[in-house]
Amino acid sequence: MDYFNYKKNTLYAEDVDLNILAEKYGTPLYVYSLKTMTEHYKKIESAFSDIDKIICYSVKANSNIGILNEMKKLGSGFDIVSGGELYRVLKINANPKKIVYAGVGKTKQEIEYALKSNILMFNVESINELKIIDLVSKKLKKKAAVAIRINPDVNASTHEYITTGKKENKFGIDIVLAFNIFRIAKKLKHIDIKGIHIHIGSQITTVVPYIDAIVKITKFIKDLTTEDIIIEYLNIGGGLGVIYNEEKPATADEFAYAIKPYLANLNVKIILEPGRFIVGNAGILLTKVIYDKKGIKKNFLIVDAGMNDLIRPSLYGAFHKIIPVNLSAKEKMIYDIVGPICESGDFLGKERTLSESKEGDLLAIRSAGAYGFSMSSNYNSRLRCAEVLVKGNKHYLIRKRETYEDLIKLEKIIE
Ligand code: LLP
Repeated sequence: MDYFNYKKNTLYAEDVDLNILAEKYGTPLYVYSLKTMTEHYKKIESAFSDIDKIICYSVKANSNIGILNEMKKLGSGFDIVSGGELYRVLKINANPKKIVYAGVGKTKQEIEYALKSNILMFNVESINELKIIDLVSKKLKKKAAVAIRINPDVNASTHEYITTGKKENKFGIDIVLAFNIFRIAKKLKHIDIKGIHIHIGSQITTVVPYIDAIVKITKFIKDLTTEDIIIEYLNIGGGLGVIYNEEKPATADEFAYAIKPYLANLNVKIILEPGRFIVGNAGILLTKVIYDKKGIKKNFLIVDAGMNDLIRPSLYGAFHKIIPVNLSAKEKMIYDIVGPICESGDFLGKERTLSESKEGDLLAIRSAGAYGFSMSSNYNSRLRCAEVLVKGNKHYLIRKRETYEDLIKLEKIIE
């Protein structure tokens, strides 16, 4: 469900004609619908309305401060994974007591930055990280609030690059080793154990792996009480899937309905870290056909967006619907829609049926709001796109298109 729909034969973002945005801001262009992301945020909030919880929007999905600020207005906290993400959320004056910090490789500098910023807690991913947090917090004469991220060893049945809760993944601490870590943590003077964190993967479409994980953790929490360790927060991560094509992911309500009974007796505050669920379908990548090229085996549409703008198809073989901005009655053709980058892996969609298209035609790559711009790069010295946020019939430039000067402004020629 989103607000990118046709009115007559023209695709709109909410009440704005996408032709107008392409004209005004140029292409390629990320266009976001505020109403779509707001409704998705509210779906999670209402599904868990009867539960003591904090929703921490996962910044990595889309980290534009224009979007983070809208999340803050909705009452969201933030899940961060780097000093850079912390900088972003502090810039929009996010409440530090709603910031949780995960990631396997936090540096001392990042830990210090987060401690000085008084974040709610670190999600600790290894024993050595725990010891470093203890040291840094001693230096600052603080006590660091932590959750231990446990790897529950469940199968999330998603793409192997985005599964995180199996024992061969680098994330979290194996559930069989975690008990001992809690014992160690309890003895560290500058550590305050607050919770347990699990995040089992991304684009998960069923509730089963969540239940498997929560059942394992419930037993674990009970065992901890024998050591007088009381868990205040259970962070169940993000990962709820969205519809890119034919998937039928659990809705927020179905998800909540299925897992709430398992949470009911735990007497903990829940943290949720949704990213894709909120912004995934709230964004499109608007692109223009540069050339159509008819080959012997294939017809190509070469467009002005490439894998540097949206890497998901190249990296994960991800499917994004590609639809025309202006519907036409021309004959249907089968195209590979490819970017201008010098790599055969630079494609946005393969073997897609579209009306015959030509230079100048506009296409919308759907479901590009999560892990789109945030994973974009300057490969082939391409300028990163502009981003526009649509609200009703208004549109706001929330990131300017880069310039050639931007490309080299940090570089230097040696004598
Ligand atoms: N919490 C933690 C600790 C995470 O690692 C992630 C995502 C999330 C929350 C948010 O997950 P979400 O609700 O968005 O599924 N680039 C990949 C996705 C990588 C996800 C990484 N971690 C993609 O484009 O599919």
